[in-house]
Amino acid sequence: MDYLSYTEIAKKLVPIERIKYLITGTAVRPNDILQKVASLLEVKNIAEIGTGNGISAVALASCSNVRNVITFDIRESHYRNELSEVFDTTKIKFFVTKDSKEIYKFISKYDFDLAYIDGNHNLKPMNYPLQDFNAVKYIGKVLFDDAHNEPITQILKDNKGRMIGNRFGYWCKDGNYDIVDKINSTLIWDEEIAHTTLKYDYSHIIKSLENDIDKKYAEEKLEKLRSFKIKVGG
Ligand SMILES: C[S@@+](CC[C@H](N)C(=O)[O-])C[C@H]1O[C@@H](n2cnc3c(N)ncnc32)[C@H](O)[C@@H]1O
Repeated sequence: MDYLSYTEIAKKLVPIERIKYLITGTAVRPNDILQKVASLLEVKNIAEIGTGNGISAVALASCSNVRNVITFDIRESHYRNELSEVFDTTKIKFFVTKDSKEIYKFISKYDFDLAYIDGNHNLKPMNYPLQDFNAVKYIGKVLFDDAHNEPITQILKDNKGRMIGNRFGYWCKDGNYDIVDKINSTLIWDEEIAHTTLKYDYSHIIKSLENDIDKKYAEEKLEKLRSFKIKVGG
């Protein structure tokens, strides 16, 4: 698999003062689940709902098999130029859209092989994740961020989707979940990841301690980070 890992992305972002915080607030994390899904499925064209600051689009576009990442958001992504200075963003097309209907109108004209949903996570005034899922499920392969949250858990349950790790969800029309088993069996914790996380992304670990589902997992991670810090700090 050939892609930019979380560690490589963090190492490029963090030395630049004005964009270093972009490594937080993104679904791009240790274990590279986004990149692994896109690489193992050998997808070429990805539709993303929820650009944010564009870091997940960068990670997906870094996969050598990926040709295009078309990413939609209801607001402009302000860091497009900055990201282009640090990463190859030529495969990414940014679009500002009003809602899933508009996204569907656009994407249904093209041939996508993976949809990635990370837009509005709320149930009210409408079930946004479900609306987004309905707009893109014709593509046949859908990856979700924050799948441990109620609206997405329900979508996965109703459609026989699966969790990848404790954060991502995956649904496919053909019922072939080999990549989920493969990725779930390779989730690792190693010292390089611990080092990068400690340096760049400690806030995420602390935040997940507030979430019951992640609590045990986060406590174990934190324990490992602490011991690593002691070791590194001598
Ligand atoms: C968590 S951020 C995305 C992070 C990004 N995918 C990453 O991992 O780097 C969620 C984004 O969804 C956008 N959003 C909210 N409602 C939306 C909608 N109905 N359609 C598309 N994007 C939406 C927000 O403006 C926000 O930028």
